[in-house]
Amino acid sequence: MIVTACAQPTFTSCQCADPPGKMAVADGSDRRTVGDREGALKLGLRDEAQVDRAPGRYRARRLPVRTHLALVSSRLMSAESLQAVRERAWATEPLDDACQRVPTMLIPDELRLLRFLGRRHFENWGAIIDGGCFLGGSTTALAEGVLANAAWQGAPRRPVIHSFDRFRVEDYTIPTYFPPERAGTSFRAEFDANTERYRHLLEVHDGDITAHSWAGEPIEILFIDVAKTMSVNDHVIETFFPSLVPGHSLVVQQDYLWHEVMGWLQMTMEFFADCFEIVTDTQVHSVVFLTVERVPVELASSRPTMTLRRAEIERLLTRAADRFSGEQRTWLQQAAGDFMDMLAAEGRP
Ligand SMILES: C[S@@+](CC[C@H](N)C(=O)[O-])C[C@H]1O[C@@H](n2cnc3c(N)ncnc32)[C@H](O)[C@@H]1O
Repeated sequence: MIVTACAQPTFTSCQCADPPGKMAVADGSDRRTVGDREGALKLGLRDEAQVDRAPGRYRARRLPVRTHLALVSSRLMSAESLQAVRERAWATEPLDDACQRVPTMLIPDELRLLRFLGRRHFENWGAIIDGGCFLGGSTTALAEGVLANAAWQGAPRRPVIHSFDRFRVEDYTIPTYFPPERAGTSFRAEFDANTERYRHLLEVHDGDITAHSWAGEPIEILFIDVAKTMSVNDHVIETFFPSLVPGHSLVVQQDYLWHEVMGWLQMTMEFFADCFEIVTDTQVHSVVFLTVERVPVELASSRPTMTLRRAEIERLLTRAADRFSGEQRTWLQQAAGDFMDMLAAEGRP
């Protein structure tokens, strides 16, 4: 039954036929103003009384002129930044010394992308999730962007970036990032030292992410670099996806374009295909998705990674790979193959 909900995808890849900007103007504005209550509230309708509930939808009414102006200006900002993301303006984002100084697993283009999103796409009314911050590389790129963000500079608030990590040295990070004697120890102190300059922007959620919840604050940018196991993936979906705002919120799925194992990332975005649209990618690793429909809470809580049957997962993975071409398609197919082998080995029906 759950699967049927996503059987007719509206999802289009970055190679889609739509001209740049079409989605940003048409979809972004319409969906944000009338399709979603949180979206309407965040767009300046901060008084609940200004939001009128219609069956299944929320309709704004009696807006004062000032609110109209805030609404229009916010929509234009989103449309403009989305178009810039789609046109890869982030690829020329400067990488300050700060971004280059912190050890990271991200490639330079991913740092540029995150810095750009913090500077240009973030509108300063929601949260930025830095899911899997490691030594602070992604944190630094996002934070440098926020510090240069005009909306944040005009009304600085804290914390805007929520960094999640359990800060435990894992074997695969030895010896590249840590000497052997550090196995299993905490690297929280290194993270704190590396991100000292942004302490006022950060809330650090230390510990296994599956033990953390989210109170429901709208999320503008959801960077996912922590969904390295199936159960964590389902937790991330359940915890954060319902707080994404249609027409504005971006999800960065790190490790989406990777040839090993992480097939559940592709499966996830295909499963929620009605809710997301591909905007851009960094060639390898990260793919950026725009939220186009609100993710229903009940669907987000359905734990698709742990419960979908193999035949359905295979169907979703095939559809995911078909959105890409060349080398990228091959990587997705390889990751899908690994994932399917893993499910077969553990006896998933
Ligand atoms: C690929 S690294 C993140 C790289 C980082 N974004 C960067 O800029 O270098 C993945 C991170 O996820 C964290 N992680 C993995 N599983 C976790 C879990 N269940 N709870 C919290 N953090 C977890 C690891 O500690 C690791 O730092």
